[in-house]
Amino acid sequence: MVPRGNPASLIGGCVSSECEGHVSTFIEQLEELRARTIAELNLASTTTELDEIERNVLGGKGQLTALLRQLGSLDASERPEAGRESNRIKQELAALVAEQQERLHASELDARIASEQIDVTLPGRTPQIGVVHPVFQMIEELSDIFALMGFQTVFGREVESGYYNFDQLNIPSDHPARDVWDTFLVESDGAEIVLRTHTSPMQARVMERTTPPVRVVVPGRTYRYEAQDASHEWMFHQLEGLAVDEHITLADLKGVLQELARQLFGPRRKIRFRCDFFPFVEPGVDFAVDCAICDGAGCRVCKHSGWLEMGGAGMVHRKVLEAVGYDADKYSGFAFGLGIERMVMMRYGVDDVRAFAGNDLRFLQQFAARAVGAGRVAA
Ligand code: PHE
Repeated sequence: MVPRGNPASLIGGCVSSECEGHVSTFIEQLEELRARTIAELNLASTTTELDEIERNVLGGKGQLTALLRQLGSLDASERPEAGRESNRIKQELAALVAEQQERLHASELDARIASEQIDVTLPGRTPQIGVVHPVFQMIEELSDIFALMGFQTVFGREVESGYYNFDQLNIPSDHPARDVWDTFLVESDGAEIVLRTHTSPMQARVMERTTPPVRVVVPGRTYRYEAQDASHEWMFHQLEGLAVDEHITLADLKGVLQELARQLFGPRRKIRFRCDFFPFVEPGVDFAVDCAICDGAGCRVCKHSGWLEMGGAGMVHRKVLEAVGYDADKYSGFAFGLGIERMVMMRYGVDDVRAFAGNDLRFLQQFAARAVGAGRVAA
């Protein structure tokens, strides 16, 4: 440690009055301070210690500075020698401090470099790059296919009112078909709020704010009360299609779906319509495409039927047109709804729908290469 306090009292017990006029005593004190400081400087092992020594000796309130103040009280004849000697020692000590400073600073830096050393030759960690989810890749692809046929992509809401999810689709409260879909439903201030069971509520929402011709597709999530298994999920994606204009017929619907099947599954695909019932279409059909994997001969993917079910469709019921104020004698239209997961499953031979929301990266990463250059979805 560096001694503090009155320098004169530390050096040979000499107080300034006793020292007055004795140059030899003054120089002795100087020498003693010099020797002690040099010893301390040599012992200092950190730059912090060094700074402290410098402050205690050379600083404004330091011991050497205090000693120099006594120069004035010496005899005039003795002053020059004492002054010269003081300056020499002051410079010597200052130089020593600087030298030590440099040395300690360098060794501290060395120690720090050694302790913070990193091995730059280690291989880096490759950041994981996500992929566009296969369902959204399919949405983009479908959106592009329908854009070529003049359909605009629009999005609806996942939390719907009972009014749009049911009533506007010719499914009144007492309709038996409602029971099948009456799930995830709550009542708020007398109004029904539901996680939409299909994308069809967007039919009325779009028509209400458009005059014909109407041509839209609506991709998005839908929710149902389902026991999960390899082909059922309580949340899945649909793509709704709606076209309304003068003179639209079932042949237009078939042509559009035929073209969709060709774009998705290749040029030789056939479309099959079978009668089905949905309250908001008349007539109603379910539609299937012949299996691209076995060319309709029957295989594991099409469960040996030769056909792959794509969804429901039909001519828009006149009650639905009238409910949005359209003239049902002048306008007609078709609508369809297809399951998007199902399209991906058919295309790539995925045999379990639960894989899509299962968060298994090994499944999802198989779709990495396909994301590149995929089409866009209108916002
Ligand atoms: N919304 C129907 C469903 O979810 C499908 C559908 C859409 C049927 C449009 C006919 C017309 O099953």
